[in-house]
Amino acid sequence: MCGIVGYVGHRNARDVVIGGLRRLEYRGYDSAGIAVPGPEGIEARKKSGKLANLEAELEAHPIPEATQGIGHTRWATHGGPTDENAHPHLSQNGRVALVHNGIVENFAELRAELEAEGIEFLSKTDTEVAAQLLGREVAKGIDVSEALRNVSRRLTGAFTLVAFDIEDPSRVVASRRNSPLVVGLGEGENFLASDVAAFIEFTREAIELGQDQVVTITREGVEVTDFDGNPAETRPYHVDWDLSAAEKQGYDWFMRKEIYEQPRAVADTLLGRFNARGELVLDEIRISPEELRRINKIVIVACGTAFYAGMVAKYAIEHWTRIACEVEIASEFRYRDPIIDPMTLVVTISQSGETADTLMAVRHAREQHAKVIAICNTNGATIPRESDAVIYTHAGPEIGVASTKGFITQVVACYLLGLYLAQVRGMKYGDEIKSIMDELMGMPEKIQQVLDSIEPVMELAAQLKDEKSILFLGRHVGYPVALEGALKLKELAYLHAEGFAAGELKHGPIALIDQGLPVFVVVPPQGRDQLHEKVVSNIQEIRARGARTIVLAEEGDTVVEPYADLWFTLPRVSTLLQPLVATIPLQVFACELATQLGHDVDQPRNLAKSVTVE
Ligand code: G6P
Repeated sequence: MCGIVGYVGHRNARDVVIGGLRRLEYRGYDSAGIAVPGPEGIEARKKSGKLANLEAELEAHPIPEATQGIGHTRWATHGGPTDENAHPHLSQNGRVALVHNGIVENFAELRAELEAEGIEFLSKTDTEVAAQLLGREVAKGIDVSEALRNVSRRLTGAFTLVAFDIEDPSRVVASRRNSPLVVGLGEGENFLASDVAAFIEFTREAIELGQDQVVTITREGVEVTDFDGNPAETRPYHVDWDLSAAEKQGYDWFMRKEIYEQPRAVADTLLGRFNARGELVLDEIRISPEELRRINKIVIVACGTAFYAGMVAKYAIEHWTRIACEVEIASEFRYRDPIIDPMTLVVTISQSGETADTLMAVRHAREQHAKVIAICNTNGATIPRESDAVIYTHAGPEIGVASTKGFITQVVACYLLGLYLAQVRGMKYGDEIKSIMDELMGMPEKIQQVLDSIEPVMELAAQLKDEKSILFLGRHVGYPVALEGALKLKELAYLHAEGFAAGELKHGPIALIDQGLPVFVVVPPQGRDQLHEKVVSNIQEIRARGARTIVLAEEGDTVVEPYADLWFTLPRVSTLLQPLVATIPLQVFACELATQLGHDVDQPRNLAKSVTVE
């Protein structure tokens, strides 16, 4: 939520900052802005709307060449998405320009204090107080790094601030609390950004910052301290993907590219998980087998699509480990006083590792002395840093706002965790684990098969583009798949879509079924627990009431065929693994339908990819 870039070096700052913002635009696109030092003071340009508006403004009113600059792309919280509320904000004395991601919770009292001193505010944002406070500090003769530490100590809430002082244009300073910030290390240049995608074109060497730290970058170096000025430890790391991963590579949308990357993403997430003895290994798990054996409950906490990955995981984890597993929406979790204790294993799932609701759940769980394992796709993000252990999904950067390869690899990582727990607790024999792992290893190929025969889904999207409502049904693991299919359609096509547990439909929602209403149904593989037969009955119930049934079922399922108005074949897999193939057509359907409607698939309205406010 909000993308931030800071640069000092030898290149034209405008190009670096705008290029960086383009790669961070998925974080928010309500407005964008840039500031550089000019010969007669700070030069800032900012525009509401997408980055293209700022670029047009820069064409009309160019900024001077500079080798230092800051930029911002916004997801509005305080103050509407107007030009005035766009960042950067300048202090009234013209000394500093500042951009911000997060929410300054005590902004009202700080604003009153500054207004009493005669400062006039130009925006309705919480951010402007930080700019004015910083301007006031540097005007006292305090250097900008020290000044930012002083300001940071006065703020409450979540913030990443990036700023410079026109009278000290050799450095850009930043501070962070509860919001993301990484440093990029170049040759004679250094970078600050909300994530590495912003500077990956120039360097793959990065530094992860901790909580409550202030960083100063110059051409020559980087200095990190805590808010009191004490030198702070940082963790340098090498980014294991390159610029090509952050580009569309010929696809119309990042989302479509990411859908097609899923076979590779699953393979990478499964890579290197066996040792020489044929045991499943999760190197990242820093919780001892003894502790894992003591666990008596698992609580999975996540938001959005990651929550649905957790719902899928519950079925597998309970089945394999026989440990009770709850799944909860992160924003609800800590406010209901959940029953967790040192015997509880809390598993958080977050692609970005920065989602504020999930982060707060991690903190709450750790306060109750529960063990926390993060499933995350972003190296060094706050959630894995604050957890006891992490299992990284190796999906590569996900830029489309609607999660696709993030979801699929989260499910895979949860399965690895479930199998690992089963192994550690002796719930499954080695050969049983091996046989499930073998099936998992075969999933990239099965996902590829789905993608290779996706054409009818594209045609269906074109046919259904004028529908006002579409329903999705599933049972067992097919139920969260149905929810995810509906969420994708809401996010991207802005149309009414709902997912239901197929068996629950008759208890109310069946009243929604009307002549011709399209209903997707995820049909489980045949021959287990009568699940298949039950879903076939559910299909008949809705068909009898006029629904147009679009059935996702495994190849050779002749039982369901007579009841399908339309039919997509899924490769044969076991029930628990079916979400890994059944979700794919639903992702493609939503992507294509939104494309047909002329929507921006990668940047749907009102959404942001990484939601760093509660
Ligand atoms: C936002 C995104 C969703 C995503 C959710 C959780 O709402 O729009 O696509 O599923 O955040 O994100 P996370 O990074 O925690 O997985």
